[in-house]
Amino acid sequence: MNAEICFSSRLLDWYDVHGRKSLPWQKDKIPYKTWVSEIMLQQTQVITVIPYFERFIGKFPTITVLADAPEDEVLHHWSGLGYYARARNLHKAAKVMRDQFDGHFPPGFDDALGLPGVGRSTAGAILAFSFSQRHAILDGNVKRVLTRYRAVEGYPGKKVVENRLWEIADEFTPNERVSEYTQAIMDLGATVCTRSKPLCDLCPFRSDCLARQAHRQSEFPHRKTKASRSVKAVRMLVIKNEEGAVLIVKRPSTGIWGGLWSLPEVSEPGSEIESWCEESLGIKVRVLDKLSRFQHVFSHFDLNIDPVLCLKIRECDHINDQPLLQWYNPRYPAEVGLPGAIKKIFDTLSETSA
Ligand code: ADE
Repeated sequence: MNAEICFSSRLLDWYDVHGRKSLPWQKDKIPYKTWVSEIMLQQTQVITVIPYFERFIGKFPTITVLADAPEDEVLHHWSGLGYYARARNLHKAAKVMRDQFDGHFPPGFDDALGLPGVGRSTAGAILAFSFSQRHAILDGNVKRVLTRYRAVEGYPGKKVVENRLWEIADEFTPNERVSEYTQAIMDLGATVCTRSKPLCDLCPFRSDCLARQAHRQSEFPHRKTKASRSVKAVRMLVIKNEEGAVLIVKRPSTGIWGGLWSLPEVSEPGSEIESWCEESLGIKVRVLDKLSRFQHVFSHFDLNIDPVLCLKIRECDHINDQPLLQWYNPRYPAEVGLPGAIKKIFDTLSETSA
C-alpha cells in the first residue's frame, strides 16, 4: 500500500466509527449551505456555528435572497460570530453568484476561488463536499494533523512550509470517498489531534505519527517566532438619551468591525469628552461615570476598551437626520450588526441598571 492509500483508508475507517455525520450542513449537500457553513467555520468552532447557521439559512434560504438583502441585515445575523469581513465577503460573493452564475455556487474550482472570501482550502472543501470533486484542503486543523504526522518543521505561515504541507495534503487525498475524507481529516484535527492535550491513544496514526514517536506533539505546528502582540486603547462613549437608548455609530466598511454599528470612540487621550461630543456628534452631554475596562482580543492585536457613561443633555443636530448615527434601545433592539464586545457592554449596563 502506498502512503496515500494507507493514510486515507485508515482515516476513513476511523471516520466510519467516530466521525461527525449529522451536522446541520451535512443533511442535504446543497452547495449554498456548504459554502455558508465553511465560511462560518473558518475561525469558529462547530458548537458556536450551529445556531448561527440555522438562523442564517432560515433568514436567507437561497443565494439570491442573500444577495438581495441589505448589508446591515446580513451583518445582524453575523453579530457575535466575529471576523465580520467573512459576512461582508459572503454578501459580495452572493451578488457575484446571482449576477454571473444564475444564483448557484459555481462547480469550477477557479470560479469558486475567484469568489470573495473563498481561498484555496475553502474552495477545495466546498467542491469536495458538494460535488465530490477531488481537492486537497489545508485549514488550521489539517495543518496540525499533517505537521505532527510528518513532523514538518518550520512555521506553517511561511510560504515554503505551507507549500510542503499542500504537497502532503494532496498526496494523502484519495480519489474515492473524498467528501468523507475531507470531513474526516477536519474531525480528527478538531476532536483527537487537538492543539493542547491531543488524545493520541485514540488516533488511527498513533503508531507512526513522527511527532508522537519523538514525544514532540506540543511543538507542532511550530508557532510564529516571537513578535509581541500590539495593544491599543480606546475610550467608548455610552451616551444615553432620556428613553434609555444609546447612541451608536456605523463604522466604515473596511477595518475592524467594518460596516457594523459600534459606540462613538475618543482615542486621543487628552480630548475633553464634552467638547468632543459637541464638535463631532452635535450632542451636548454630561459625563456620568467611568465603567470598568475590558479587553477584546483580535487576531492581530488586543483592544483595551474604557467605556464612559454619558447622559445626553441636548441634541444640537438631529440624530435621525444622520445616516451614520442612530439611537439604539437595547430593550427594543433594531436589526443592526453589533460587535460581540459592544453587546457585552450593553449586557453589563442592563445588569447594573436592573
Ligand atoms: N471546520 C471547517 N469545516 C468544517 C466542517 N465541515 N466540519 C467541521 N469542522 C469544520
